[in-house]
Amino acid sequence: MSNGFWDNLKRPIIGLAPMDGVTDPAFRYMVASTFNPSVMFTEFVNVEGLARGATKMIYGFFYSPKERPIVAQLFGTEVDSFYKAAVLLCYLGFDGIDINMGCPVSKVAGKGSGAALIKNPKLAKKIVKNVLKGIDDFANGISLENAGVHENIIKFIKENKNKFGGKDGIVSKNSDRKAIPLSVKTRIGHSEICAEAWAKTLIDSGVKILTMHGRTLKQLYSGEANWEVLGKVAKICKKGGVVFLGNGDVHSIDDAKEKIEKYGCDGVLIGRATNGNPWFFKGKEPSVKNRLSIIKKHVKYFEKLSYLPFQTLKKHLAWYTKGFEGAKEMRMEFMQAQSEKDIYRIIEEFSRKIS
Ligand SMILES: Cc1cc2nc3c(=O)[nH]c(=O)nc-3n(C[C@H](O)[C@H](O)[C@H](O)COP(=O)(O)O)c2cc1C
Repeated sequence: MSNGFWDNLKRPIIGLAPMDGVTDPAFRYMVASTFNPSVMFTEFVNVEGLARGATKMIYGFFYSPKERPIVAQLFGTEVDSFYKAAVLLCYLGFDGIDINMGCPVSKVAGKGSGAALIKNPKLAKKIVKNVLKGIDDFANGISLENAGVHENIIKFIKENKNKFGGKDGIVSKNSDRKAIPLSVKTRIGHSEICAEAWAKTLIDSGVKILTMHGRTLKQLYSGEANWEVLGKVAKICKKGGVVFLGNGDVHSIDDAKEKIEKYGCDGVLIGRATNGNPWFFKGKEPSVKNRLSIIKKHVKYFEKLSYLPFQTLKKHLAWYTKGFEGAKEMRMEFMQAQSEKDIYRIIEEFSRKIS
């Protein structure tokens, strides 16, 4: 099987990491509207929820064609549910599927998924096998119904067709079916570092694209990402013909390029440094005026999607309003806002003040 779009990506790869509650469709759209990274990932979505027919889980899979190449990320433990979710994601027209084996938070790892899989390689292998089977079966023509995708999900997709990649999103013709690439995103260990052995296990199970965050599950986000260990994994991946992306504490585009070169990676994924910085990949800070028009565009797109609670938008607004004169006052006003209308009014008033 080829690595799909990964083989054609210009090196070095500098992508947007998946972040639950952050890389929502509106934020990803803003990133893509400013300067497209090499690749971007959705927030992770729970496969068991999808298998139960929880349609609200699928909102995170809304995407615009601008965001391509876009990879959808899954987490969970039930192998059958992974199979169904894989078929679904192929149908939704994603460029790739990623399995989360790195989340350390207790509501995920505490249930045996995310980074807990580092301690359960047997299950990790089964999950990889089932996702690969789902991808293959889709390419060979299986329908959502025959794959066992929940009827609520099928109905929801049919009603919201244009929200998945626009007119070239959903794969409706059999001749457009193809096997999309599978990737895994994980950490360098559970309680102790075991990155090299863990990478070999994943590669043996058929993983051809790997991202590793340079911290263990136990570390959560403390200390610094261990790039020396990531460099060792990069060597193993190179030998095995596996695409390797390092991750953790990359602060700028220059920092990304330096780390890629120094540690021999194909690329990096960048997470927290993009908070409130959808222009991160451009490598250039916008003027305050441009920043205001970006905020306005974000709010408009958020309004258009109209599915997320207003509170979700406020998180982004708080991040946006940092580092310029009057930012603190503006942030405080945003936090009092009750609706998108209030946000537009605050932006207008501020624009008048600075012009
Ligand atoms: C708020 C938040 C949510 C995250 N959600 C996900 C997720 O859904 N899937 C995932 O693989 N990693 C997730 N991560 C981990 C990031 O993708 C990344 O591995 C981590 O933040 C380290 O990279 P950074 O130093 O560039 O932020 C999340 C991180 C944060 C801070």
